[in-house]
Amino acid sequence: MDYKTLYRNSLDNPEEFWADCASDLVWTKPWDKVLDDSDVPFYEWFSGGELNTCYNALDRHCEGGRAGQAALIYESPVTGHSRNYSYAELRDEVAVFAGALRKYGVEKGDRVIVYMPMIPEAVIAMLACSRIGAIHSVVFGGFAAKELATRVTDAGPKLVISASCGIEGKKVIPYLPLLDQALRLADAEDLTRILVSRPQLPIEEMHSSAVLWDEAVAGVEAVDCVPVEATDPLYILYTSGTTGEPKGVVRPSGGHAVALNWSMKHIYNVQPGDVYWAASDIGWVVGHSYIVYAPLLHGCTTILYEGKPVGTPDASAFWRVIEKHKVKCLFTAPTAFRAIRREDPQGDFLKNHDISSLQTLFLAGERCDPDTLHWAEDQLGVPVVDHWWQTESGWPMAANPMGIEQMEVKAGSPTVAVPGYDIRVLDDEGREVPNGESGNIMVKLPLPPGNLPTLWGNRQRFYDAYLSRFEGYYLTGDAGVVDEQGYLWVMSRIDDVINVAGHRLSTGALEEALITNYNVAECAVIGVEDKLKGEMPLGFVVLNSGTAVDEAELKQTLMQTVRSQVGPIATPRDIHIVTRLPKTRSGKILRGTMQKIADGKPFKVPATIEDPEVLNEIAETLEWD
Ligand code: COA
Ligand code: AMP
Repeated sequence: MDYKTLYRNSLDNPEEFWADCASDLVWTKPWDKVLDDSDVPFYEWFSGGELNTCYNALDRHCEGGRAGQAALIYESPVTGHSRNYSYAELRDEVAVFAGALRKYGVEKGDRVIVYMPMIPEAVIAMLACSRIGAIHSVVFGGFAAKELATRVTDAGPKLVISASCGIEGKKVIPYLPLLDQALRLADAEDLTRILVSRPQLPIEEMHSSAVLWDEAVAGVEAVDCVPVEATDPLYILYTSGTTGEPKGVVRPSGGHAVALNWSMKHIYNVQPGDVYWAASDIGWVVGHSYIVYAPLLHGCTTILYEGKPVGTPDASAFWRVIEKHKVKCLFTAPTAFRAIRREDPQGDFLKNHDISSLQTLFLAGERCDPDTLHWAEDQLGVPVVDHWWQTESGWPMAANPMGIEQMEVKAGSPTVAVPGYDIRVLDDEGREVPNGESGNIMVKLPLPPGNLPTLWGNRQRFYDAYLSRFEGYYLTGDAGVVDEQGYLWVMSRIDDVINVAGHRLSTGALEEALITNYNVAECAVIGVEDKLKGEMPLGFVVLNSGTAVDEAELKQTLMQTVRSQVGPIATPRDIHIVTRLPKTRSGKILRGTMQKIADGKPFKVPATIEDPEVLNEIAETLEWD
């Protein structure tokens, strides 16, 4: 069936469409309703149905003849390790660790925090939670203690799983001091901790409520999968919003398994048995969906890569892994390709590798500039697909659906709406704009299966943040255009979210960090264009009157404050000390105008500005540097 017909079908007969997709999975109890619309605007998929995601991702394939096939390949250039887990091995390790979780009191519905580097135990921990119906919440290793603490407080976990260290290039990053500090901040010091002691930083001393992973699993019997309701949460993943307070995106078990399994064939065009590699981190949604769940649900081999695109040891890292494991489909962020291009613009490293197994490169997580897309196409000689989605959706919302129909590529556009997503562009009054005009990118409700049904413990915030702007629509937070051919163009965010090297950050969280310095009276953080990372934070601070400080020293202190409160991934490009911030007469800081000045783009002086002269001062400060 061609894309247009399939897409129309998905919107005209959603229940039939998704019920058909759901039949590819094993359900322990059939659903009562495919789409439950009894509580509009809150929709649920497959209500009344029961299944287990871990069963569908592992046991089902073992029983279906894939027991000996590689399920997970751990590739770690930073430690020099590589290990293959067959489907049977992974199932057995997961089943035993699930038993260990039970031993330490974790039951169905309990939350478990996973704060881990890219090691197999992290994947095992996630799947073990799913096996017993516990809800994992993975926190990215690059976040600082305060961010971890906020997530612990909100999720209210029964247990936390971590490791002695992460390895970032050549640096060993100790995790336990951060974990201890976070649990102190969250007033959760007595929480049970299961810790992996890595040889790069063996654990010698630990908190009295901690136990080593090896001890936790010793003598434990494997446990079976527990059926959960399709609408029960599989996991919570916190993401940045407009304020510094992260939002706990809830992932529904049933819809997630159905949508992800469907996406592997129809979007990524891979079959069971193929090798699929998402070079991301399990701390982000890409890692949840396309390192762990989707490839396993679909019976593929997935790669867990502990390394960087460059520097581990060089810009050939990706080609080496593709050649070694015969990767068919690679998914990463445009930043990774920009980094490779910077080190090896002529693609010399590529000439020494046979990457003929590769059929497609998928890019997402941030806007993909046409230059990077074309460079990747020229180097790899395969289709390069820019696709658009977000933590909230859990799977692509717009893509070139390679498994349905390969459509013409328009560089800079993530192509067309994925079946299930009724994407509309509305103006600020909620009217649909004609094709070619820009506005708010919205999705007409209901969202397809797998999308967030709520925010953890906060249905009101879910409604306020996503559903209240225009009745009957979901607010994606992005602005853009749908052109005459129905192609989507994502131009910018409409809120204070920025995207640094594919990492989603809230400028609000950075501002909250800067304002903790007693010299700072007020501040603003904006995202400015960056050749490598897409965007980078840039800070502006106004000091308390009469403050006499060494400016260079203060800047360093403020940089350090951001790193220690938000995390090293949020390190600003610079922090400027200014006398005033541009504001509207009602006191709103004109961050959008500041951003345009910083990026050297034309801007209009807003009619509501309090004092236009401040904009000149900002421009001078930026020029001066
Ligand atoms: N744990 C601890 N620290 C981390 C971390 C983690 N998981 N991830 C990043 N950091 C640290 C880095 O070590 C660095 O610290 P430093 O300032 O002390 O050197 C800082 O956070 C910034 O990291 P990053 O933004 O990754 O920049 P980089 O210069 O180290 O690397 C790239 C640049 C382009 C190689 C890197 O950003 C990259 O691989 N990007 C790919 C994007 C990606 O996979 N995104 C996932 C979404 S799909
Ligand atoms: P995250 O939730 O971290 O995946 O970030 C999602 C946000 O990243 C989206 O709302 C967009 O702002 C941006 N984004 C992701 N993919 C793309 C893309 N292909 N093109 C443009 N922006 C993107």
